[in-house]
Amino acid sequence: MVQQYDVIVIGAGAAGLMCAIEAGRRGRRVLLLEHAKRAGKKILMSGGGRCNFTNLHTTPEDFLSRNPHFCKSALSRYTPWDFIALVERHGIAWHEKKLGQLFCDHRSSDIVNMLLRECEQAGVELRLRCPVYAVHREKGFRLETGQGTAACESLVVATGGLSIPTMGATGFGHDLARQFGLDVLPLRAGLVPFTLDGESLSWSRELSGVSLDITASCGVSFRENLLWTHRGLSGPAVLQLSSYWLPGQEVAFDLLPGLDVREVIDEARRERPRIQLRTLLSEHLPRRLVELWSDRRWTDRRVADLSAADIRQVSEALQPWRLKPAGTEGYRTAEVTLGGVNTDELSSRTMESTKVPGLYFIGEVVDVTGHLGGFNFQWAWASAVAAGQDV
Ligand code: FDA
Repeated sequence: MVQQYDVIVIGAGAAGLMCAIEAGRRGRRVLLLEHAKRAGKKILMSGGGRCNFTNLHTTPEDFLSRNPHFCKSALSRYTPWDFIALVERHGIAWHEKKLGQLFCDHRSSDIVNMLLRECEQAGVELRLRCPVYAVHREKGFRLETGQGTAACESLVVATGGLSIPTMGATGFGHDLARQFGLDVLPLRAGLVPFTLDGESLSWSRELSGVSLDITASCGVSFRENLLWTHRGLSGPAVLQLSSYWLPGQEVAFDLLPGLDVREVIDEARRERPRIQLRTLLSEHLPRRLVELWSDRRWTDRRVADLSAADIRQVSEALQPWRLKPAGTEGYRTAEVTLGGVNTDELSSRTMESTKVPGLYFIGEVVDVTGHLGGFNFQWAWASAVAAGQDV
């Protein structure tokens, strides 16, 4: 027997849950399908367990997309304040950590539970452990699932990106887009640590756990923290940069942003010429980094005894430190997937395919990817509401 719905949403992640709620509230009969055994798994693991659910300073400039204008309409119609109002209606305590990033005071599960309660109130039927095997186009759409056949007028694809396959990520949404003749732009891991090789890797292993405030650049610049790991480099500055970095490119890290190391040394040569270079640099940089590089990259001396060439050597090592990452950790640890369904094929007002009426794509499966800091969830909520109001 075929069960008939107005709307079927595939994927009960951030975008799928939100879209189902919006459509259900409008009185649409909604079925939400999820192949994992729980809904909202990425929400649960997000923000270190506290879900960075939005960013107060969200603007279209915080997103990467081949068409940077595409996200504007949805983001302007569902703002961070709309989501905050929802969170407050459910009595969820939150705080701003830094840079407009809003987190739950307690646990990410507060957000998932809120969305599940809203689904229930909106009459959404949620089926977990329900894989979708095939989608056929008829008058509407017919889906063969692990729990029987279901049909609908509007089909919303909210299956997310490829990052963290162990969490249930699949390329199903991209394959479905291709099946219906939509273009999918090349996919790659974003917001992901860099891996290193050779000497940089062995230094990194020795410095594992050290972090400092830097400016990271490769075409764009981010002032955030850098963290050495036993595989390479991580921390918010690196994650942000990774979304812009292409294999083979060099990256530059200013390890003393806001300071000029030459001036620091010159001043010390005037004021306290007997100080060792290592001691002076340790006033501004982590001691472990200074000790390692004092042994391997330059010779430690009293600042009074440094030659012009010595000072240039130190300055060139730190401002900026240039290197070529070997690669990234890939989808195994990436927070997001860049690329996805080409926005040229979608309405920016409704997320509906311009080629296949009734077919919608929302959230991370679309070629819109946010910076680190709550922007990806804000895109999931906003694109979901845009579709939910139209289906
Ligand atoms: P999402 O991946 O959330 O949901 C897709 C759903 O579809 C999943 O439940 C999946 O199981 C299901 N699915 C896939 N294939 C299917 C199929 N064939 N059939 C049925 N179901 C299927 N962002 C942010 O703004 N703030 C943050 O704090 C974080 N933190 C964070 C931490 C980590 C570790 C990761 C990996 C990611 C983040 N992110 C984040 C990014 C954020 O989680 C992500 O951008 C959104 O979850 C995207 O929402 P979607 O609903 O589009 O996909």
